[in-house]
Amino acid sequence: MNEDKNGKSSALLTEEQREYARQIFKSKDYAEKWKGISTLFLKTKAESSIDTKEVQREILRIKKEKGALILSHNYMILEIQEIADFVGDSLELAIKAAESPYEFVVFCGVHFMAEGVKVVSPEKTVLLPRLEAGCFMADMINLEVLKKFKEKHPGKPVVCYINTDAVVKAESDICCTSANAVQIVKSIDSDEVLFIPDRNLGLYVQRFTKQKIIPWDGWCNVHHRFRPQDIVKLKSQHPDAVVVAHPECSPEVIDLADEVFSTGGMVRFARETKHKKIAFATEEGLIDRIRRENPDKIILSVGSPKTCVNMKSIRLLDVLSALKEEKYKIEVPEDIIERARVPLIKMLEISKGKDFVRKIFSTSGAKISLS
Ligand code: 13P
Ligand code: SF4
Repeated sequence: MNEDKNGKSSALLTEEQREYARQIFKSKDYAEKWKGISTLFLKTKAESSIDTKEVQREILRIKKEKGALILSHNYMILEIQEIADFVGDSLELAIKAAESPYEFVVFCGVHFMAEGVKVVSPEKTVLLPRLEAGCFMADMINLEVLKKFKEKHPGKPVVCYINTDAVVKAESDICCTSANAVQIVKSIDSDEVLFIPDRNLGLYVQRFTKQKIIPWDGWCNVHHRFRPQDIVKLKSQHPDAVVVAHPECSPEVIDLADEVFSTGGMVRFARETKHKKIAFATEEGLIDRIRRENPDKIILSVGSPKTCVNMKSIRLLDVLSALKEEKYKIEVPEDIIERARVPLIKMLEISKGKDFVRKIFSTSGAKISLS
């Protein structure tokens, strides 16, 4: 069962691997944190009685006055996407920040992404409007259990998905995003690789690589909630629709999808395809963006719309306070920055080329050493 190339078998995971993740998932801290973010999301959602246009104008005024760059992840609420200088996926945002001359970056996304920006551009002040905005998946692995995982598989390289904290990246060999995961794993000279923390993305990569992937048992509880029956129903109601899934979805959902793309890939696909009806299995904020950008196409969600409560806990007023009070500053210890940028730079060298890496780091003024 372990050799199943289609990644259909959950028996790929040893009981021990599951146990590590379960320990974290069931811990009191984890439960408290996620109870907190869900409550915060519901509370902030209820605070909708603001003059949106007025707050947006004020944000843009202060942004100009301070010379700040506002970056928004694809999953942010529409009102934030509208005032951002750039809307994109986690990697695109980190690159935009590095290329920008601005000293202040207001990062509207989740904590690991803001940390990634700080690691790539340590000379900049990176502000995250809500410190509580974490990521369910990134929290499913930590340094302690990663060390145990590595001890269990000595000498095996660790590929870490960008959805990880900087300390976890610092302990990994190379990073990847959902857009380049297959290319990154194929570039590694080893028969076996440890893949953290997303089991579904690891199993997706396994379909295309000869190397044996040993995945961590983490998942995104936005994408993992799409069910195969949601696609079956959608296809019966809309036989003319093309179905696109994110690789964080389960192998059973991937099997039924027509296409599989990262968030950035979904934006491009919607723009370029001749299909007039497209259904997505991803977070609703991105589906809103795609709908807005493609008024001539019918854009649907597979099953009920799914919300990332972490992303959506950031509201316009938080962005305004972040700018006014210059909070919350993302701090990453210098030694972690130094070590975490190694796997990030390796990934960029492979996916974008060394010239590109040299160029973005010379713009940002940060020191790098290329292999
Ligand atoms: P991107 O890297 O495509 O931005 O996605 C990150 C993520 O959290 C998807 O759920
Ligand atoms: Fe994390 Fe999932 Fe939210 Fe992406 S959608 S930030 S993986 S919890």
